[in-house]
Amino acid sequence: MITKEQVLSALSVVIDPDLQKDLVSLGMIEDIKIEGSKVSFTLVLTTPACPLRAQLERDARRAVQVMTGAQEVEIHTTSRVHNPKKVDISGNEFKHVIAIGSGKGGVGKSTVAANIAIGLAQDGASVGLLDADIYGPNIPRMLGITGTPQAEDGAKVKPLVAHGVQVVSIGFFVADGQPLIWRGPMLHSAVQQFLTDFDWGSLDYLIVDLPPGTGDVQLSLSQTLPISGAVVVTTPQAVSTDDAFRAISMFDKLEIPMLGIVENMAYLRLPDGSQMPVFGAGGGQRLEDLTGVPLLGSIPLEPEVGIDGDRGTPAVLASPDNPASEAIRAIARNLAAQSSKQAHEAE
Ligand SMILES: Nc1ncnc2c1ncn2[C@@H]1O[C@H](COP(=O)(O)OP(=O)(O)OP(=O)(O)O)[C@@H](O)[C@H]1O
Ligand SMILES: [Mg+2]
Repeated sequence: MITKEQVLSALSVVIDPDLQKDLVSLGMIEDIKIEGSKVSFTLVLTTPACPLRAQLERDARRAVQVMTGAQEVEIHTTSRVHNPKKVDISGNEFKHVIAIGSGKGGVGKSTVAANIAIGLAQDGASVGLLDADIYGPNIPRMLGITGTPQAEDGAKVKPLVAHGVQVVSIGFFVADGQPLIWRGPMLHSAVQQFLTDFDWGSLDYLIVDLPPGTGDVQLSLSQTLPISGAVVVTTPQAVSTDDAFRAISMFDKLEIPMLGIVENMAYLRLPDGSQMPVFGAGGGQRLEDLTGVPLLGSIPLEPEVGIDGDRGTPAVLASPDNPASEAIRAIARNLAAQSSKQAHEAE
């Protein structure tokens, strides 16, 4: 007869490599059932976008088979995103608020933010995307959004939903093509209203696309929003990594933990299969070595990424097999894992 205790002791040998603890101590095992030589249980991951899902399932199955002699092991995998530092505002719940910043403009922040948001949503997370780029709110175009959200009588305004992601953009509040000259208190109250006046519900991840740079506007946005972690996007070039370093220093001064670095436009794939380092090589790795902030991944320069973004259907959806899309999906999962790690350490 296999016992529950045997199953638990087998699973307490399996270590989550990110959280450095065993599955039982982490509370990831529920609902153990034993029918003869068949064992089933639920594995509760810390995020639906867990990059270790397959590995953990395999290790857990093997441990139970070997240590209990079970003939059949059935694992139901689910997830619960949890963060002791989650933010509750006006009936909304934001478990992780992740800012995407850069020192330099045009490195692909918005592209990365939009694709990561969709990647996380594709994995089953509840995701919001807040476009806080007061200089050039590009998110509506990148997600194919044309209208603006309408308030129904007495109810809070619902964010617009595009490709499974809830979206609010500062672009909703200004006339098309008009420049934004918002400063100080006005910017502050607008940004607060993004979180208080919209009915976001409960979000696992709110991704915030920040304007480029490390000036007053970026500082006050980062202070006003309850950001739980930040990602900095850079190209491999030194002029970009220099600015990314400044962005990392800015988040550091604000005591916003860094979740990772994304290297974009890493290389161009040539027809013969070779890689052309258009903007140099190794910048993301050098920045990781310099700062200790993990490099979440490198995204190649691929024409589809730009084309799909302009058409309003980001590459992870429109060109899922493109190497850039594969890189972005992996980055989204690494980001989710880093967020889980941060939440676990906060506890
Ligand atoms: N990996 C990539 N491959 C090809 N084109 C890309 C890639 N990443 C971004 N682009 C293109 O580069 C341009 C700049 O990207 P994006 O607007 O996302 O940058 P940004 O950092 O948000 O810019 P800004 O600083 O103005 O906010 C866009 O035209 C986008 O389509
Ligand atoms: Mg942008």
